[in-house]
Amino acid sequence: MEHATPMKFSIQGNQVLPRISFFSRRRNSPEPVPEEEKAVPPEFSFRVDELLGDAVSSQDFLLNIARKIALGASAQIRPCKKPLHNYLGDDLDPEKVEQIANFCRGKASGLAPEAEAQLHELAFWRWVAFEGYADNDPRAFPWLQCLSMLEHYFKTGWTLRELAGAHIVEIGCGPLGMIEFLPGKRKVGFDPLNAEYEKLFRRVRTGGVEYVPDLEALCQTGRRQFDLAVCFNVLDHTTRPRKLLDDYMSLLKREGRFLFQVNTIKPGETRPEDHARMHPSPITEAQIRSWLDQYSTHYQSSLSDKPSDVNEYFFMAWGQKNREPAAPFDESTLT
Ligand SMILES: C[S@@+](CC[C@H](N)C(=O)[O-])C[C@H]1O[C@@H](n2cnc3c(N)ncnc32)[C@H](O)[C@@H]1O
Repeated sequence: MEHATPMKFSIQGNQVLPRISFFSRRRNSPEPVPEEEKAVPPEFSFRVDELLGDAVSSQDFLLNIARKIALGASAQIRPCKKPLHNYLGDDLDPEKVEQIANFCRGKASGLAPEAEAQLHELAFWRWVAFEGYADNDPRAFPWLQCLSMLEHYFKTGWTLRELAGAHIVEIGCGPLGMIEFLPGKRKVGFDPLNAEYEKLFRRVRTGGVEYVPDLEALCQTGRRQFDLAVCFNVLDHTTRPRKLLDDYMSLLKREGRFLFQVNTIKPGETRPEDHARMHPSPITEAQIRSWLDQYSTHYQSSLSDKPSDVNEYFFMAWGQKNREPAAPFDESTLT
């Protein structure tokens, strides 16, 4: 934003107050301008104006968060009514519900690993829509997701304000990912289950995100287009993790930022069988670091030192993409 003339400020002690003529104490006064009232240099006034402008434009965003918090808080004291109802959206098509029911009864054998993992994933999120996440009322889900995702975002030390003009993409965005809760100029969320999530979570997918169902098409049109790329808790859910990482990174501009998370395993530690089926590509910290190293000399990370109840370790990395792998990855080297 550019201004032709510098704004005027009144400097009192260590406070800088904007001198708005309508409220000015000198409006009807013939007194001379006091010594301490000075024109502020243009660069400073631009900065202040930018801050004020951001404060105004983030109102909607903050109100949206406040609304979710209020909704979540009230949902905690008003238990969900039975019979089962989806307050967050609609239900899936009857055939899909039947497929999930068969899967839950153990009658969905013969599916390829990725298809089985995704059916399991869908069954889980349908449960969240109707029954709630971790014993919370389902209506609290958007609120819980917002708090959790913003907490992870702020671990990077980045601010929300700096995303105002950013183009952001999230790969494996789930029904509500991180992207819904970030400001941005353009926001694109890819997930193979987007069509189903669109039904189950229709009423709460209100974060201004363009949801896309086709990663290949996105990679063709979106190559090197994005300032920030998020991928959170996705890589071990796929059968081709390195291909997904390469697609994800291809969307980033050079020097664009990535926020990446995966739950890692340690060799020799076991996971429950049904969890393993839903996560067909377990990955160690060493493996994911070696892959990220090919994209960045410049990232930070955190790894939990305690395992989860399924023996996994939360790993998150954030930084800038400032290099590309020397050669395409040979997938046959994956065990
Ligand atoms: C555990 S959920 C995480 C969702 C969301 N990122 C979050 O943290 O709440 C894993 C997501 O990865 C998605 N997924 C599975 N295979 C994928 C693939 N090949 N490409 C992108 N996303 C995939 C699933 O559909 C699911 O929505």
